[in-house]
Amino acid sequence: MRFLMDKDKIISLLDGTADDWLFGEALRLRNQTIGDKVYLRGLIELSNRCRKNCFYCGIRCDNHNVERYELTKEQVVTAAKYALEHGYGSVVLQAGEQQSNRFTDFVTDLLSEIKELSQGKLGITLSLGEQSEATYEKWFAAGAHRYLLRIESSSEDVYKRIHPEDHSFATRLGCLSSLKEIGYQVGTGVMIGLPEQTTESLADDLLFLKNFDVDMCGMGPYIEHPDAPLGKSQTPLEERFRLALRMISLLRLLMPTINIASTTALQAINPLGREMGIAAGANIIMPNITPSFLRANYKLYNNKPLSDIDLSGFDVAYNEWGDSRHYALRSN
Ligand code: 5AD
Ligand code: SF4
Repeated sequence: MRFLMDKDKIISLLDGTADDWLFGEALRLRNQTIGDKVYLRGLIELSNRCRKNCFYCGIRCDNHNVERYELTKEQVVTAAKYALEHGYGSVVLQAGEQQSNRFTDFVTDLLSEIKELSQGKLGITLSLGEQSEATYEKWFAAGAHRYLLRIESSSEDVYKRIHPEDHSFATRLGCLSSLKEIGYQVGTGVMIGLPEQTTESLADDLLFLKNFDVDMCGMGPYIEHPDAPLGKSQTPLEERFRLALRMISLLRLLMPTINIASTTALQAINPLGREMGIAAGANIIMPNITPSFLRANYKLYNNKPLSDIDLSGFDVAYNEWGDSRHYALRSN
């Protein structure tokens, strides 16, 4: 059955009018189309340095309460080996936004190294912010094949409210288009429950994801950070959590074959959050495998879980890349 939902229907479901139906349908559709397995992405946080100053983020460049770090090549390789030995199909290299030749070359070098050590067994996703097309091309040529870059909100008004003036919505969109053009599997996503954000705006976000024809999506509840100026959302945390689950289910109904992550921000609100995200139709989890002594410095939001990796609640597909089925379908 095809789900042709108009915007009013989406808004009404986001308002919580039929949660049991929604979660159940999304799960059923996921199992029927891409299966019931969960795929792992070992998240390696390369560095918490960032040139940007997003109003919501704990590692924005104006926050001087964070100690900045950068992993060494050896530390990244150690983490990648951990992923390989534990049957993770893929790793994600994530960092704050850094634009320098040194950083570009560092990442290029890491990509070759990880390809080599895993003999192609590890899929590699990058999440390194806005970069020039040349840099995206260089990294693609070196072996990266997926890229995550959240639009944060598809409403230019909301985008402007949560970012300083010199952060450009158009540039962000341009980057997403370049990534697609180059041939990456492209992932984007939004934050849910931002101050002044309405369910209508969230419905537009879902339609944006559908229209942009994304391959992957990661989205999660906004969580206030004490050192970030954006401040308090009027939506209670528990409701933001429910909204995030509804967003996952609705996106699954709109785009049955994409990869959808059950994000750590869900777990920050509810210890079973990631399991609930999977039950709502997501199929990806991204356990943090950054060498643990550094993790405390990578706090985008408060209460970000630092705990050890417990995968017992998931039916994991080990040793598989777990590429987006949608990507294969659209590039055929
Ligand atoms: N709450 C929730 N998500 C956040 N992110 C950054 N800060 C916060 C926050 N306070 C998300 C953004 C970014 C991703 C890496 O983390 O969506 O793209
Ligand atoms: Fe930097 Fe990303 Fe945080 Fe913005 S959200 S300040 S780009 S790490």
